[in-house]
Amino acid sequence: MARNGLHMSYQDPSTWDERYRSGEHEGRWHRKYPSRELCTVVAAGLVPAGGRVLDIGCGAGTEAIYLAQCGFRVTAIDFSASAIDIAGERAREADVRVEWHTASALDLPVADRSIDFCFDRGCFHHVTQPDRPRYASEIARVLRTGGRLFLRGYDPGDVPTTNIVPVTQDAIDRAFDPIRFARGRVEVLVPPEPEDPNTFVGVFLTRL
Ligand SMILES: C[S@@+](CC[C@H](N)C(=O)[O-])C[C@H]1O[C@@H](n2cnc3c(N)ncnc32)[C@H](O)[C@@H]1O
Repeated sequence: MARNGLHMSYQDPSTWDERYRSGEHEGRWHRKYPSRELCTVVAAGLVPAGGRVLDIGCGAGTEAIYLAQCGFRVTAIDFSASAIDIAGERAREADVRVEWHTASALDLPVADRSIDFCFDRGCFHHVTQPDRPRYASEIARVLRTGGRLFLRGYDPGDVPTTNIVPVTQDAIDRAFDPIRFARGRVEVLVPPEPEDPNTFVGVFLTRL
């Protein structure tokens, strides 16, 4: 596979398998500690105690493991089998239970209306515009009424490669049907994390 970005597609799980197998994630998007925005969501009580949560595009599992340590019942999916292998091993080391699935965000292996909180750190911005309504309709299917999705993705002013589709208010409004979702404002998460030079945005969506 070419390493210059010209021949790799972020919509292809094998691209991600190679990135995880080579350890590229370690110096790039992977963090040993949960993100401050997820900790803030939990601290604010926005996830009901003992609730069922879903981490979409969980990667090497830091956020899913943290949510399990908080006492939530966690399902985590990623379409890279290599990511799920690493995440499963880390959960065993941390001695927490997470239900891991190698699966696409566009076809979630989760029962209808069973999830209280969905979290997405860096997956949605790899979903192309034509696929985003499908992503949103899967979230609508699995979230209970009043359940929330928090997603974080690249700010349009700071997209590092043409493979990434930034998260904008217009993109959110087009993908997430207002009959099914109350849509929050896309806000820049400031200040950027010290170890991360890029600017990200975050937005809440609530299932109606
Ligand atoms: C930038 S990484 C973020 C991983 C993790 N959330 C984190 O914060 O470390 C994006 C992840 O999304 C996964 N991904 C991308 N598109 C996906 C899709 N359509 N379905 C499932 N996983 C996907 C990739 O395999 C990758 O692990």
